[in-house]
Parts: sequence; C-alpha cells; structure tokens
Amino acid sequence: MAAVSLSSAVVLFSLTTIFLFSISSWEAEAHPVSTLIKKKLYNNLFLHKDDKACPANDFYTYRSFIKATKFFPEFGTTGSLSTRKREIAAFLAQISHETTGGWATAPDGPYSWGLCYKEEISPTSNYCDDTNKEWPCYPGKSYKGRGPVQLSWNYNYGQAGKALGFDGLKNPELVANSSIIAFKTALWFWMTEQKPKPSCHDVMAGRYAQTQADVAANRTTGFGMVTNIINGELECGIGSDARVNDRIGYFKRYASLFSVQTGPNLDCENQKSF
Ligand SMILES: *[C@@H]1O[C@H](CO)[C@@H](O)[C@H](O)[C@H]1NC(C)=O
Ligand SMILES: *[C@@H]1O[C@H](CO)[C@@H](O)[C@H](O)[C@H]1NC(C)=O
Repeated sequence: MAAVSLSSAVVLFSLTTIFLFSISSWEAEAHPVSTLIKKKLYNNLFLHKDDKACPANDFYTYRSFIKATKFFPEFGTTGSLSTRKREIAAFLAQISHETTGGWATAPDGPYSWGLCYKEEISPTSNYCDDTNKEWPCYPGKSYKGRGPVQLSWNYNYGQAGKALGFDGLKNPELVANSSIIAFKTALWFWMTEQKPKPSCHDVMAGRYAQTQADVAANRTTGFGMVTNIINGELECGIGSDARVNDRIGYFKRYASLFSVQTGPNLDCENQKSF
C-alpha cells in the first residue's frame, strides 16, 4: 500500500516533502496493533467466526477490531515486541473464551471457535443490580452479556458507556449492534483498573507489581492473574476448572500463531480471587 501511494504521490510532491512525510508517519505508528496482527493472522485465529453456525457471523470484522484499538493507544503498544504480541494474544484468547462456539471435537479443534457469539443466548436474569444507585437500571433494559467480553451488569454498561461516549444504561443493545462499540467495550474492560484489581493491560504489559495482598493470595503475575481479574470469583482457587482451561487452551494456540511465548503462571487454580 505505502509503495503504491508513494509512487503516485511523486508526481505531485517534491522528494524532500515525501521523505519528511514518510519519516513522521513511520514514527507516529512505530508499532500500531495492525502491524502486529494483520488480517490474515486475525482470520487464522478466528477460523469459524463467520460460519453460519455462529450467531455472530459477519459481525466481528478485522476492520472494527483495528478501529477500536485506536481508541486505546496503549493497547498492544507497551513494552518489548514480545510483550506487545503476548498482550494482544492474551486479550484475544480471553474474548474467545467469552464468545466461544467450540467443543472438544469441533472442526479445527476447540480453540478455533472464538467470536462465535455476540450476546448471551439464555440469560437467567437482566443483570440489574438495583442496589447500585450510581448506575441505575433503565426500566425494561437487560444488561446481559454482550460483545467480545460479554459485558454484563448495569454498573459495567454505565461505566463503559460513559468512557466510550454512549448511554450504556439506556442503550445497552448498542454493544451487540455496533461491532466497533462492541470491541471498544472489551478493550475498555481490558485497559481499565477496577480496584482492588489491576487492569488486565498492566498485568500483560508487565507493568504490574504484586502487592502484599497478592503475595498472600498467591496471585502471581501472568495470564492466570488476568483470568482472576475477569472471573476469579467463580473460576479461581477451586482446583482444575474447565473454563480456566479453555482460556488457557485459546492462549496457547494464539501465542503459537503470534510466535511468542505464553510466559509463566497461566493458571489461577492456586490463586485466591480478588
Ligand atoms: C439494536 O438492534 C435491534 C435489532 O436490530 C433494534 O431493535 C434496536 O433498536 C437496536 N438498538 C440500538 C440502541 O441501536
Ligand atoms: C502458588 O501457586 C503456584 C503455581 O503458580 C503453586 O505451585 C503453589 O503451590 C501455590 N502455593 C500455594 C500456597 O497455594
């Protein structure tokens, strides 16, 4: 692409102008996410996302993913090249578990079926915590799981919407209607610290140092801690867990496709939740 636009631009601009322009745009985008994950790799990770069997077919496009990452410039751009790839692989693995259509004997294996769903199919409630007065539920709205991270609960929809510029309490459906908003909610969750938990980003970017409480709870840093942040209350510290193992399975496959090591501490079976 760059070569084509440069050669046609030669007609219009002096060589000096082109030289300066290409240097500055190169610096501004030294390692944008789109150079670490090209469309081909994206499609290899999510082999079945557009199958007719997947309710989210044709929703989670590469273009929407890349557009959403631009809203969070630190995502996948912090640390060494390996760290950046590992963070992107970890993020994509976690959202794949949240939206998986895979099963043990699925074609291409259980970990090729990420991004198959965009909303929870049989929610058991509206996920309205009406004791929460800061983010009050809007009458008749459901805060069921939607989007790549299956955003749930009124307080998460309210906060995500505020950060991203839409009314998440009044229009929670937007998270399953717009793929860019959908990816943005997942990245918002990944990038945002919600005390006492660190952000998933800080953990995978190697910017998080264990606290005393983490040491006491055996919460070592790595992919297992990210699982603990996302759903530790239900999945961590209870021995081997199928959901945790599914997350790990996705991460191992993706790390391999990114040609990067997974790093230590993949599991959270020996960690207490936050
Ligand atoms: C989302 O899409 C559904 C179904 O297509 C539609 O009924 C709803 O009004 C849409 N909501 C928003 C907030 O765009
Ligand atoms: C802490 O976790 C590690 C694995 O990450 C495990 O080997 C060790 O036994 C755990 N320690 C305790 C006290 O649970």
